[in-house]
Amino acid sequence: MGDTAKINIGGKDIESPVLKGTIGPDVIDIRKLYGQTGAFTYDPGFTSTASCESAITYIDGDEGVLLHRGYPIGQLAEQSSFMEVCYLLLNGELPNADELTKFESTITRHTMVHEQLASFFNGFRRDAHPMAVMTGVVGALSAFYHDSTDISDPVQRRISAHRLIAKIPTIAAMAYKYSVGQPFVYPDNKLSYAGNFLKMTFGVPAEEYQVIPAVEKAMDRIFILHADHEQNASTSTVRLAGSSGANPFACIAAGIACLWGPAHGGANEACLNMLREIGTPDKIPHYIERAKDKNDPFRLMGFGHRVYKNYDPRATVMQQTLREVFEALNVQDPLFETAIRLEELALSDPYFKEKKLFPNVDFYSGIILSAIGFPTTMFTVLFALARTVGWVAQWNEMISDPGQKIGRPRQLYTGPVQRDYVPVDKR
Ligand code: CMC
Repeated sequence: MGDTAKINIGGKDIESPVLKGTIGPDVIDIRKLYGQTGAFTYDPGFTSTASCESAITYIDGDEGVLLHRGYPIGQLAEQSSFMEVCYLLLNGELPNADELTKFESTITRHTMVHEQLASFFNGFRRDAHPMAVMTGVVGALSAFYHDSTDISDPVQRRISAHRLIAKIPTIAAMAYKYSVGQPFVYPDNKLSYAGNFLKMTFGVPAEEYQVIPAVEKAMDRIFILHADHEQNASTSTVRLAGSSGANPFACIAAGIACLWGPAHGGANEACLNMLREIGTPDKIPHYIERAKDKNDPFRLMGFGHRVYKNYDPRATVMQQTLREVFEALNVQDPLFETAIRLEELALSDPYFKEKKLFPNVDFYSGIILSAIGFPTTMFTVLFALARTVGWVAQWNEMISDPGQKIGRPRQLYTGPVQRDYVPVDKR
């Protein structure tokens, strides 16, 4: 018999089993708590609650560790490719050479979108935020694939996963092209996943597009760094939406909507805007004081994380990637100096030390993406592009779980108790 946790409620002792993962904190299984005691647990923001069992990604926030299927993110970012990481997240193991070739060709074969999908873009204003466009257009994919919506069939689930991973760069690039008034560029299946995305985004029919290898490599690495991140807000949104049996494309659209928020995927856009507002290193102390002021809603964007209470391991790789891109493109961006100085000053400030606020993945990503040529509004779109594989892998894991139930949180009700309706002339 394993460990149990004792809960005493109303003078009655209840024993709950303690479940152990392969690594990480134990969890107290309270599934029977309500039946046994009539009480719920209360945990807004899920700060102490495991919402599911998962074998995909592990984070040790205190140590700054991120593992995908057991492999450290640093090793994957240095030695692997985004296609390999996609395969790993979806299937649990790294592919052998044949499996990788087959997977890459499957993804490549699905890169085009239905021609009719292009007409969806015309319904948006040119100045629409591309995340609004992404939410709408990815959601619209649900209407195009009636041949693969039986989510109880693993083969159909796999086809949906491949379609999503393959088409999301095409849609993301189209969202960009629409915003700048340029024609959509069709996928080029001779190119890599990242190279093709760069061409669809920055290529124009009037001239030949040359992929710059260093930028292609950086893009691929940025995709790896964002591929999955355990049960974060958007992934939990995808799982919750999917728990009702909803169409996978609609579930991913829900994830995109959640990711857009500035506390989540919108942080890299907010971070670059913040760095631009700060401008020069001499203004940094003023902004640090504002971030510490309880009466000022300003926060240092790109700092702090719900799980990492140490340096975000993705931020380390991001800083290295930034140097490589700057060297390859010969960029001299004073914002980089501002960012480095801000990091130094914040890390030496007792407020940030005590609260364990370290740079997260978004701190440097905005500067790199801007150097590559992306406008800030596209930053979260790139995050959504890369995270699609994580969302779909987590969705698939959930649907495959025989014990899966519709997600239905409870609440602590604090509204009025029952009262009688009063007609309007008597109020
Ligand atoms: N600047 C200043 N103070 C901060 C910051 C910050 N960036 N982040 C947290 N704090 C303070 C906060 O005021 C609070 O202080 P107190 O205990 O005195 O009330 C304390 O630190 C804990 O903050 P919290 O909001 O309770 O922590 P959380 O775990 O709910 O929030 C977070 C995590 C990421 C939302 C938050 O750190 C934040 O808003 N950071 C800025 C936005 C950002 O960079 N987000 C990207 C996250 S990484 C990308 C991703 O994985 O999605």
